[in-house]
Amino acid sequence: MEEIKFNQIGVSFKGSGSYVPDQILTNQKISKKVDTSDEWIKSRTGISERRISNIDENVSDMGYKAALTAIEMANWDIETIDLIVLATSTPNDLFGSAPSIQAKLGAANAVAFDLTAACSGFLFALITASQFLKGGSFKRAIVIGADQLSSFVDWNDRRSCILFGDGAGALAIESTSEFDNLIGFDMSTDGERGSFLNLPSKNNKDSIIDNIDFLIGGFSPIKMNGQEVYKFAVREVPIMLDNLFRKTNFNSDQVDWLVLHQANQRILDSVGERLKIPREKILTNLEKYGNTSAATIPLMMDEAIRNNRIKQNDIIATSGFGAGLSWGAAIIKWG
Ligand code: UT7
Repeated sequence: MEEIKFNQIGVSFKGSGSYVPDQILTNQKISKKVDTSDEWIKSRTGISERRISNIDENVSDMGYKAALTAIEMANWDIETIDLIVLATSTPNDLFGSAPSIQAKLGAANAVAFDLTAACSGFLFALITASQFLKGGSFKRAIVIGADQLSSFVDWNDRRSCILFGDGAGALAIESTSEFDNLIGFDMSTDGERGSFLNLPSKNNKDSIIDNIDFLIGGFSPIKMNGQEVYKFAVREVPIMLDNLFRKTNFNSDQVDWLVLHQANQRILDSVGERLKIPREKILTNLEKYGNTSAATIPLMMDEAIRNNRIKQNDIIATSGFGAGLSWGAAIIKWG
């Protein structure tokens, strides 16, 4: 890493972007595969359809497209980008997928790496990138959330396959010496409860030679205890956001938008209720995309920015939560 170049105190938000594959999987279509119905899925989750990557498309492709649209909104020269952080749990290369996004962008002056924290990944990545910016090491960063859970879902398990979809979102952030629009943040993990949601390795054994065995690389499909994850989310997210409001001298009345990880409409409604944030301030697009893991928060923000709902200087309370178990939250001023 280079020496400290800038005397910076904060972060400003310069652009957003997103990408979803064009293949649509509706509830009706899923109900031809497993014993479920459009009515059940809609009433229990709020989801109507989700996107599935085409077979020639991976996390790097989706992340690249989301990043490019964020860079265009920020109106940056590609060469001025210092840092690319990709939040993903489904990399197309286990050694890291972010450098291939760097290559596709032609961002020759950036360093790029992956970060894994499931559905909290985007917020963890945003907070990580902002520390480099506030520390003065880097000036411009692209933070991407991209996941292709369709490759790891058990499409015969009706308790989980109805929830997930593929997509990507990105934000362009820049350091500044005048203000800090990442007003506050918090992060937490609890590995003791990790078994509630897993994408575990397969642990199939083979032998190299004589008595020397090895584990073949590979993963089992997603395993989820939906009820426990639900209870965890509706309990921990309001506590974390409430504490964050207190720490940053905000109250929930000052929030223009609540942008939660798009897991289940009932979770969003319950968190909003507990925080006394009215429904019209809770942004939701999970009806169209389902749960796209690390992508949900930037995908939602990008949609709301582009259709002029989120405006300059709006206050956004945001939280991601999921496997780990992990959860994180931030108060942001857009702009
Ligand atoms: O990023 C985090 C990712 N994970 C989550 O966000 C998961 C959070 N949890 C949830 O969203 C909900 O727990 C689910 C949507 C997964 C499940 O909803 P639920 O209201 O908690 O349902 P349940 O698990 O209590 O199941 C109720 C019934 C069961 O039948 P019985 O035992 O009462 O006869 C299930 O077998 O619904 C049945 N069921 C289904 N029926 C039709 C479970 N899945 C389905 C289905 N279609 N897809």
